[in-house]
Amino acid sequence: MRMYDLIVKKKQGLPLSKEEIYFMVEGYTKGEIPDYQMSAMMMAICFVGMDERETFDLTYAMAYSGEMLHLDGIEGIKVDKHSTGGVGDKTSLALAPMVASCGVKVAKMSGRGLGHTGGTIDKLESIAGFRTDIDTDTFIDNVNRVGIAIMGQTKDLAPADKKLYALRDVTATVDNLSLIASSIMSKKLASGADAIVLDVKTGSGAFMKKEADARALASAMVKIGKRAGKNTIAVVSNMDQPLGYNVGNALEVREAIDTLNGKGPDDFTELCLTLGSRMLLCGEAAETEEEAREKLIKSIESGMALSKLASFVKAQGGDPLYIYEPDRLPKASLHKSVIAPRSGYVEKIVCDEVGICSLILGGGRTTKESEIDLSVGIRLHKKVGDMVDEGDVMAELFANDEEKMKTAEERLLLAYTIGAEKAEKKPVILGVVD
Ligand code: URA
Repeated sequence: MRMYDLIVKKKQGLPLSKEEIYFMVEGYTKGEIPDYQMSAMMMAICFVGMDERETFDLTYAMAYSGEMLHLDGIEGIKVDKHSTGGVGDKTSLALAPMVASCGVKVAKMSGRGLGHTGGTIDKLESIAGFRTDIDTDTFIDNVNRVGIAIMGQTKDLAPADKKLYALRDVTATVDNLSLIASSIMSKKLASGADAIVLDVKTGSGAFMKKEADARALASAMVKIGKRAGKNTIAVVSNMDQPLGYNVGNALEVREAIDTLNGKGPDDFTELCLTLGSRMLLCGEAAETEEEAREKLIKSIESGMALSKLASFVKAQGGDPLYIYEPDRLPKASLHKSVIAPRSGYVEKIVCDEVGICSLILGGGRTTKESEIDLSVGIRLHKKVGDMVDEGDVMAELFANDEEKMKTAEERLLLAYTIGAEKAEKKPVILGVVD
């Protein structure tokens, strides 16, 4: 078999066989197929696409290119959750303890933040001592004992995807549905959970700007998961404005804790209840969505979800006192209010700009190696549909550098559009694909 012939075949719009896809993925992972040939193949796929069977074979080939995590040592149904990423997305921090306190095992591999979106691992590291570099045995043991464990992605997880994603990133070949779906799902399949609940975000702060594209991605991923024998569902959720009010690592941990204390923002709480209900159904801890929601609400009201978060933090080396006394979380030294320049209604917030403001303050990474400042970020006071009077505080900035704070303030002001008419608030849940 020759890579050259496979490129020609794809260019002509013909489907690649399973053997051809495995040949290509294995050869590329081992360095036998050069970047320039793989780039040509990726571009051909962007132009002519892949069918459902090819997309599945590509996913499997990438999943099996490295270590497959075996979670057989964990009793019961293991459910994983994945978000395609957004601004202020602290969902896993509240959702995992809610679900685990209802009896469903959460075994999750998470990533770090890159660009304007944050990562669960960075957020958790705001808690003194918390570690995600645990080995597989500890991970399995913690899921069995506590009900939750979150670890960083091992370097052996789907290495073909790692290499291919880096190539796609610099060859303008990221935005193909089959390539995105197979990339995400290869890592999910290699992570070993029995069921997968996906949160596919859409809007100005998301990877998928258009709702139709997000729905198509959700559907492609659900098909892959089901074909792999995993119970898979996807929730399509709104990312036209940040989720909740807080953006920034420690600030988001605080908002997750507030939510588990029953004082969470409506949109964030609703997202946790929707995703959580689906996780309880997948984990067979509830028979109907209503029953699942009730259990999750009770897990908050009874304090069980909060104490589950504390146990999870302790099991991974963190100080559980941070959960009961969130004032212990890292705090920035500077603070500034962003003031409304005129009266009206918030019509729009350019969501990725809010993420970029957090990045400017030092809360995000511009390269994989960047050090991040866990204490900085933004607290929004006004969101879409809210009335503002001239002089009102629209947001607060938390920073450790005057210059950065000034730049972030200017950009945040530009991210807001204030209009005369009350703008309609889009619901946070836009649909479910199962
Ligand atoms: N995230 C991934 O992991 N892969 C993609 O291709 C796009 C987003």
